[in-house]
Amino acid sequence: MTAGPIVHAVVVGSGIAGLTVALHAADNGCRVTLVTKDVLEHANTRYAQGGIAGVMFDDDRVEDHIRDTITAGAGMSDPEAVRVLVDEGPARIRELIALGVAFDRGEDGAFVKGLEAAHSYPRILHSGGDATGTAIEKALVARLRTSEVQVIEHAFLIDLVLDAGRVAGVELLVGDVPASGRTPQVPGRRERVDADAVVLATGGAGQLYAHTTNPSVATGDGIAAALRAGAEVTDLEFFQFHPTVLDGKAYAAGLSLGESFLVSEAVRGEGATLIDESGRRFAFDAHPDGELAPRDVVARAIARQMEAQNGRPVFLDATHLRATPDETAAFLARRFPTIDRAVRDRGLDWAREPIPVTPAAHYLMGGVTTDLQGRTTIPGLYAVGEVARAGVHGANRLASNSLLEGAVFGARAGDAIAEDAASGAWPAGSLAKVHPLPPKVLSIEGSVRSFTRSALQEMLWEDAGLMRDAAGLEHAASVIARWRRTHRSPVTQAEFEDQNLLVVGEQLVAAALRREESLGAHYRSDEHSREWVDAATAVSVTPGVA
Ligand code: SIN
Repeated sequence: MTAGPIVHAVVVGSGIAGLTVALHAADNGCRVTLVTKDVLEHANTRYAQGGIAGVMFDDDRVEDHIRDTITAGAGMSDPEAVRVLVDEGPARIRELIALGVAFDRGEDGAFVKGLEAAHSYPRILHSGGDATGTAIEKALVARLRTSEVQVIEHAFLIDLVLDAGRVAGVELLVGDVPASGRTPQVPGRRERVDADAVVLATGGAGQLYAHTTNPSVATGDGIAAALRAGAEVTDLEFFQFHPTVLDGKAYAAGLSLGESFLVSEAVRGEGATLIDESGRRFAFDAHPDGELAPRDVVARAIARQMEAQNGRPVFLDATHLRATPDETAAFLARRFPTIDRAVRDRGLDWAREPIPVTPAAHYLMGGVTTDLQGRTTIPGLYAVGEVARAGVHGANRLASNSLLEGAVFGARAGDAIAEDAASGAWPAGSLAKVHPLPPKVLSIEGSVRSFTRSALQEMLWEDAGLMRDAAGLEHAASVIARWRRTHRSPVTQAEFEDQNLLVVGEQLVAAALRREESLGAHYRSDEHSREWVDAATAVSVTPGVA
């Protein structure tokens, strides 16, 4: 790093992106404070099952990973951003290996190759079978604990502090503990932390929806704070729904399967199939790659099939993955230990019977607009990982590119902070940027439910979920507008989170209304839809690659 005044950077969030940016900024001589609203380890990263994609094998090609990413993204990715992601990915993966992440290896010592949907090559590395996120989070947290980075847990981002058009710090709610059982709510205290640079690494907003793979912390806090500060936010209509969760709350009539649980796409990558109630494989009706078509296509195919079945779930069939049920059971337990436990805890034997699955909200492609170094439109404010819209995912993220994005762009932002400060060249911001206003609010007939988080989640699932139309979106817009007007000022962390979900939900609905065409994960059922299939580049892949 160039000698100069010590730069203080505050990083908000502790997933792969936040931890990576913190470590890189500290290595570059910055004083770094990392704040997280829960404990360090409780980030979305921990739940990532499938793995991390990267060109790590001699017979794979950078150009193929780039093409797969852009094709899955419905042609909406920024090609330069995708090239950076794919070019720099292997170096970042090697850094993770050096930190102690033990990606699974075969008997020959080589990395085991994993396949997921829309990849033309089995380029996904995994750890602990299906516990890749946990392994990465553990290694990065261990490294962070031996670094100079100061950590403040249970510190919730209320808002960004701005001064003369640039970021000047964060306002936090520290130590807020929600009521639990017989313990009353402990109110937090407000604290301001000054900073030369602030990095949003707060993850996504899966809690917008009634059915989600995301943990409780995914409440869109960084996007909401950026919106309030006047930063540019784009592509919020592109919200990805994962095709397969074991979901007790969903439509599973007559089934009681407990909390939603993600069943990794890697299970289909190993050859599991999707069947309807009569046992017919239906995914090929939607796309020539069947179960391994881009995620948005498969999720909608399942939703349509469920509609035809009066809302009852479809089934994921893994029973044929090995020659006998006992061999299949042994394989599933070894390759997918986490999922295997969850399935069996719910009383199902997936080596012998297909399991019921439904789609659920999974990943927000849109977010705070950044350049290739994580810079937002506000000087001194950076965003990395799911909170950011760096341009890599387009309208539908390719499987296992999210951990990769956190690692690649986290490192880039960590390097850029020190350089930007040293050069005195914080890029010009655009605080005055006019934000697109939500659409005109129409009056709604009849009474409106009063606001609760679950009322918002259920409404967005119905009106702004896998399939949207103008009537549903306008209804959601008007209800949110009314809730926003009557929402009392937040005091507790849960109330701030509610406010953030309302802010992000409002903008997501507005963006979905503005985009009248179907594109990637954004499907307007009231418009002539066009599934984006690049026939020229579609490559058939063979499931079951070990
Ligand atoms: C999965 O394992 O299916 C999810 C991986 C991802 O979201 O990339």
